[in-house]
Amino acid sequence: MNRIFSGIQPTGNLHLGNYLGAIRNWIDLQNEFECIFCIVDLHALTQPQDPAELRGSTREVTAAYIAAGIDPERCTIFNQSMVSAHTELAWLLSCLTPIGWLNRMTQFKEKAGKHREMAGLGLYAYPVLMAADILLYKATHVPVGEDQKQHIELARDIAGAFNRRYERDFFPLPEPQIFGTATRVMSLRDGTKKMSKSDSSDYSRINLTDSGEMIALKIRRAKTDPEPLPSTIADLEHRPEADNLIGIYAALCGLSREDALGKFAGRNFSAFKEALSEAAVEVLGRIGDHMRRLMAEPGYIDGVLRCGAERARAIAEPVLREAQQISGLLRP
Ligand code: TYM
Repeated sequence: MNRIFSGIQPTGNLHLGNYLGAIRNWIDLQNEFECIFCIVDLHALTQPQDPAELRGSTREVTAAYIAAGIDPERCTIFNQSMVSAHTELAWLLSCLTPIGWLNRMTQFKEKAGKHREMAGLGLYAYPVLMAADILLYKATHVPVGEDQKQHIELARDIAGAFNRRYERDFFPLPEPQIFGTATRVMSLRDGTKKMSKSDSSDYSRINLTDSGEMIALKIRRAKTDPEPLPSTIADLEHRPEADNLIGIYAALCGLSREDALGKFAGRNFSAFKEALSEAAVEVLGRIGDHMRRLMAEPGYIDGVLRCGAERARAIAEPVLREAQQISGLLRP
C-alpha cells in the first residue's frame, strides 16, 4: 500500500517556498494516496523558540494546510509531539545510525554555522527523528522540496540498516517526491540563497499571510538584472534571479518553465513583474484570507489536531510495538 508522510516545522513565517515546494503538491496527492501531514513541533525545538509563538505557529501551519486545500476529513493532520511514538522510534533508530552519516548532513552544517561545538544535540540528531517520522507510518512516499532530499536518503539508509540488522523487510524504503517547477525557491534578494523562514531580510520572502499590497511590493523590489528576458531556458543559466522568478511564475500558473518564459521573451522585467504579482496575489491572497478566518477559530484547529493525533497513533503505535519487539525489548 502507498502511504504519504510529510511535514513542516512551525517556526513562523510560512513562505512561498513552503507552498510551492511542498504544500501545493500535497493537494493532488490526497486523491491518490493515504496521506499524513504533520506539523513537526519537536523539530522546531532544535532551535530556540518562544513557547507562546511556537503554539501559535503550530496552529498557523495547520491553518495553512487546510486553507491551501488539504481536507482534514480525508487526510490525517496532527502535530508531532501529540504522538510520543516518534521520539521512541527515534531512539531505536539512533542506535543504528553511524555518526559518519550524520556528519554528512549539509543542513546541520548550515544551521550550526561556525559555532558547531555549541550546536545542540537535537539539531545534530534531527535527521534521525525525521527518519522516525517517516518510518513510523511505513510511508512509501515523501513529497518535499529539494532541500530535504538528503534527509530522505538518510531515512532510506536508516530503514535499510534496521532491516539488515534484524534480517527482515520491516520498513519500506521511502521515496522522495520532488516535483513542480519550483522545487527550490530562492530568496527574492539573492538568487543564490534559498528562500527561508529564518532570513533576516523581510523582502527576501513572500509569506503566506502577506497582504496583496505587501506581495506586490516585494515582487517590485525583487532583485533582477538589467537585461530583458531571454527566449530560451538555457539563457537563464547565469541569471539566478530571473531564473527563480520564472520558476515561481510557472508554478503559480501551472505552466512549464518554457511556456512561462515564452510569454515574456524579449520583454523587460517591469511587465513580467506585474504579471507575476497578479498571479501571486490571486493564489496567495485566497489562502491568506482563509488562514486568517481559520486562525480566528483556534478551537476548530485544535479539534482537527486532536482528531488527527488519534488517527496517527492508531497507525504509529502498532508499528512502534513491533519495532520494539524486533529489537529485543521485553514488553511483559
Ligand atoms: P521545512 O519546515 O524547512 O520546510 C517544509 C517544506 O517546505 C520545503 N521548502 C522549500 N521548497 C522549495 N523552496 C524553498 N525555498 C523551500 N523551503 C522549504 C521543504 O523542502 C519542505 O518540504 N525537515 C523538514 C520537516 C520534516 C519532514 C519530516 C518532512 C520533519 N520530518 C518528515 C518530510 C517528512 C523541514 O525542516 O522542512
